[in-house]
Amino acid sequence: MDALGKIYSTTTIVTMNAKEKANGIAIAWITRVSINPPMIAISVGKTRYSHTLLNETDRFGVCIMRPEAEKLVNFFGSKSGRDIDKFAELDYEKSPSGIPIVPGTLAYIECTIKEKADAGDHTIFIGEVVLQKLFGNDKPLLYGEHSMLNPWLRD
Ligand SMILES: Cc1cc2nc3c(=O)[nH]c(=O)nc-3n(C[C@H](O)[C@H](O)[C@H](O)COP(=O)(O)O)c2cc1C
Repeated sequence: MDALGKIYSTTTIVTMNAKEKANGIAIAWITRVSINPPMIAISVGKTRYSHTLLNETDRFGVCIMRPEAEKLVNFFGSKSGRDIDKFAELDYEKSPSGIPIVPGTLAYIECTIKEKADAGDHTIFIGEVVLQKLFGNDKPLLYGEHSMLNPWLRD
């Protein structure tokens, strides 16, 4: 494992609803970037279907996942919305603006997209926080070198 593996991150499922097409993607590359206004950044691979959808909408949801939600994170992080509807068999809620909130969410943050930055094979989407919901006070699922989650960096 290289030094970059020592960067541990909060594991999330980022959801969106672009042109009536809902999708979600497991995202570990996420961070806060501004206090006032509150803003966060997510890094999304250019080949992901979610990358296409995020370019067709101005809003995304961040579902910060509970440790028990590993299986669902692996599902959203190994299948593409290009091939399947990841919500087809899922009993999920929607935010007031219609963005999916998946089961196993510990905290939900909804953002409007303010900036996009090119970063090699990824794009960084910077969002301003417009809604926050806390469903519990436990620690979230983390992603790092010893993670049991799907080793997505190899794909
Ligand atoms: C734990 C975990 C974390 C991930 N983090 C990211 C990430 O930060 N950025 C990214 O582009 N892909 C990440 N992935 C890979 C995508 O979730 C995966 O390629 C997904 O199938 C893309 O779905 P889509 O084509 O429907 O957008 C991660 C996967 C897993 C399992």
